[in-house]
Amino acid sequence: MWRRLFFSRPQILTTPSFSNLRNVSSTVNHFLVSRHAAARFTLSFSSNSPLPKLGAEETNHTAAAKVIEKNEAMQMMNSALETSSDDDDGSAVGFSYNHGLNMSKVEQKKLFKQRQYEARKAEIISADKERRRSEGDRKRKAWDEKLAGVDEEERAKLIEARRALRIKTIEKMNADKAQKIERLEKARVHGQNIVIDLEFSSLMSPMDIRSLTRQIMFCYAANGRCSAPSHLWLTGYGSEMEAQLLKIPGYENWIIEKDSRSYIEAFEDRRDDLIYLTPDSENVLYDIDPRKLYILGGLVDRTRQKGVTMKKARNQRIQTGKLPIREYLKESSCQILAINQVVELLLKFMETRDWKTSFVHAVPQRKQCQR
Ligand SMILES: C[S@@+](CC[C@H](N)C(=O)[O-])C[C@H]1O[C@@H](n2cnc3c(N)ncnc32)[C@H](O)[C@@H]1O
Repeated sequence: MWRRLFFSRPQILTTPSFSNLRNVSSTVNHFLVSRHAAARFTLSFSSNSPLPKLGAEETNHTAAAKVIEKNEAMQMMNSALETSSDDDDGSAVGFSYNHGLNMSKVEQKKLFKQRQYEARKAEIISADKERRRSEGDRKRKAWDEKLAGVDEEERAKLIEARRALRIKTIEKMNADKAQKIERLEKARVHGQNIVIDLEFSSLMSPMDIRSLTRQIMFCYAANGRCSAPSHLWLTGYGSEMEAQLLKIPGYENWIIEKDSRSYIEAFEDRRDDLIYLTPDSENVLYDIDPRKLYILGGLVDRTRQKGVTMKKARNQRIQTGKLPIREYLKESSCQILAINQVVELLLKFMETRDWKTSFVHAVPQRKQCQR
């Protein structure tokens, strides 16, 4: 007998019929994470078909695969099923969907939250695209109307003025770009060295790696805008991080140092100058020393890998430092910043030598103390 279930939130899935799931063949027909953080999917299953081997190629969940990765759909289903265990016989729920996945409840919840976040972000991006498209349409229409309302001679003048303005804008952009290159080349020799340690890929999900890639892009952009930029390094560079970074348009032209070795090897002769910035350090960083090399952990903290960088630095016997955050961030807010915020903070401090101004500039207002 074929049954069909549709549920808009995993939590409401409390039907005892799931006890039979051990013997059903499931097909995920549709899966999406909606705007209001609700996972929605439809299951069709037959109680007398054999159990699919999840995570293996034998499954024929083609419809789901069109929407998201099959395994991820299964993880989400598993998460939903686990929440239904109150009404169930316990043995049925969460059972074989764990085949080969070995996800704890916490991990499943994390995955679910990641999906919500991605869906919300996709919505924001598409709304933004739509806004820009309609803005473009509006401007084009206004321009056409302007041209239509004047005689031939005036029209030619308007077109010529617009052409000249465009040339001027392009020239300014090219000049800005040339100046930026010059500043970054100078920083290669004289600038403050800031190192991003990329040796944590194995601790991050593909989504975290994409997020870290974006953060590195923001770091590079912020550095490029500085009148006195720093010299950025990527150590432990390679594999998945490299693949993601190469997707950034123009990345090949970045003026940034890439080294596949660890910073320990890359700066073997300057070991005493290495300072690992880590939120778990006991040393507060009140000043920045231009002779030192400041290392940041290339980690996205959604995974809450507490103490990872501190442990690493301690094992390597290198100095550590934490940002002077207590006075500037609300106690209730997270004391751990994303690496682009840390880089912006350091850049601003080097420019102003004032932590307060730097925090105001680099950290979202909701995190700041109201002093
Ligand atoms: C998102 S945090 C990762 C935190 C992670 N739990 C760890 O063990 O480092 C990314 C990096 O930003 C830097 N960072 C973030 N907040 C910091 C703070 N309060 N003090 C010093 N460094 C910080 C550290 O280099 C850190 O590794």
